[in-house]
Amino acid sequence: MDDKHWYQTAVFYELNIRAFCDGNGDGQGDFLGAISKLDHIKSLGVDAVWIMPHYPSPLKDDGYDVADYYGVHPDFGTAADFKAFIDAAHERNLKVIIDLVMNHTSDQHPWFQAARTDKNSPYRDYYVWSDSGSEYPETRIIFLDYEKSNWSWDETAGQYFWHRFYHHQPDLNYDNPQVHEEMFKVIRYWLDMGIDGFRADAVPYLYEREGTNCENLPETHEFLKKVRRLIDEEYPGRVFIAEANQWPHDLLPYFGDGDEFHVCFHFPIMPRLYMALKQGNRRVILDILRDTPAIPAGCQWMTFLRNHDELTLEMVTIEEREWMWQQYAPNPEMKSNLGIRRRLAPLLDNHKGKWLILNGILMSLMGTPIIYYGDEIGMGDNIALPDRHGVRTPMQWDSSQNAGFSAADKTYFPVISDAEYGYERVNVANQENDPDSFLSATRFLLQVRKAHPELQRGEMEIWETADKSVFAYWRILDDERTLCLYNLSAEVQSVSLHFPELAGQGKLIDLLHEGRSWTLNDNIPPVLKMRPYASHWLHLARR
Ligand code: GLC
Repeated sequence: MDDKHWYQTAVFYELNIRAFCDGNGDGQGDFLGAISKLDHIKSLGVDAVWIMPHYPSPLKDDGYDVADYYGVHPDFGTAADFKAFIDAAHERNLKVIIDLVMNHTSDQHPWFQAARTDKNSPYRDYYVWSDSGSEYPETRIIFLDYEKSNWSWDETAGQYFWHRFYHHQPDLNYDNPQVHEEMFKVIRYWLDMGIDGFRADAVPYLYEREGTNCENLPETHEFLKKVRRLIDEEYPGRVFIAEANQWPHDLLPYFGDGDEFHVCFHFPIMPRLYMALKQGNRRVILDILRDTPAIPAGCQWMTFLRNHDELTLEMVTIEEREWMWQQYAPNPEMKSNLGIRRRLAPLLDNHKGKWLILNGILMSLMGTPIIYYGDEIGMGDNIALPDRHGVRTPMQWDSSQNAGFSAADKTYFPVISDAEYGYERVNVANQENDPDSFLSATRFLLQVRKAHPELQRGEMEIWETADKSVFAYWRILDDERTLCLYNLSAEVQSVSLHFPELAGQGKLIDLLHEGRSWTLNDNIPPVLKMRPYASHWLHLARR
């Protein structure tokens, strides 16, 4: 694998600077704090870090409401601290990508302030205005719990403005070429600063066209291709990653002919992993894998279990959504928009076997996995906090005050302190030397993945065993092959390892359970007895 394609085999970590570590004792995480914890990130075995928006912002949407594209939020530190973070990460051989929020700004951004106060300002046309607020009626509302319309009236401007998210996040007008130029400037600015790429936020919504749902429009792809050209020509080796919460056939165009995004998040597979686990049936995973198209050379999927948002159920059917809510959001407080605002460990009942299944799949199925901060220790959530804040609480480092996150009296959100997930129990220090901890398991899975290139970039071949509760696939790269198996049920499953074509070639060694192996040279195939919710990665050790 040449270095230019590093993102195809990397493992990423999603870092929330505000939540990670408070370096200056003001109760908010910052870059200096995060630098002091880079060794933790490195110790997991990840290769790259995505940091959530770090820009000056009123933080009404945790920084996705950008007020200045060129700055660093004062709570997080200075431009020098940002640069020091990038350097410290690079010293450890960790790449850093940042969030690029192109679709909208905060209403506090000077562009919007100028636009609303002066009809003749050149910035007026940076946004999308209407006298009636009746255009584009086929466009869905994304933040359903909070917004009634994608148009909001602005008293000062005397017009409606368009917004796909909160009403304080006016959409930029990509019909204005000046907006393109502004974004190119922003992109160059941060790439010049030495970052390794972008996670581009909310890209399907850049343009509006009457008679469409205003998503995935050809004009949007055209603009995104221009961004990619800029990156390739001026900053080769940097990566452009799409957040496009869409069905596979709508996602494919975001790769273009290998000339748009390098990487796209695979949204539809994520809820189906939870669904299959709860149903004890692999069917929905197989269905979505069948619907997942091949992607151009040089491209990659990004897979995830959780992130800073709600567990989105946009990419499932209405019936499936209802079912997921019943199963995973028994308390209506756990619902948010079209999703579930809970963290990984609580979703999985803090069950180690279930946790290993989903993480095992994440680390071996396909694509570039990303871990959400805190999930490596099985952090809990706080549904008493509004919006998606409950999954953005302070990282739990140790059992000291504020979980070792901050020396302040008060932190930006309270640390989790309930009996099961409270910081006194669930923290990095406790798990550090415990071989049975989530933290040790995370490190172990990443280590095994790293040692076996077929798990990173092998061909994937589904193996349909007799019982539907066993999900299994081979990863094959040249002569290397590993069979990954998961028992999605609470029953013991016996799997006959019947591979006549491999007879006499060696034995299958379990990479996840030391000392276990199955020889393939008999006429009678060996049987793998899978315990409830067991995971196995069987590597073919050739004679
Ligand atoms: C993306 C972000 C989300 C944010 C939204 C609006 O979906 O992941 O957190 O609220 O965009 O910027």
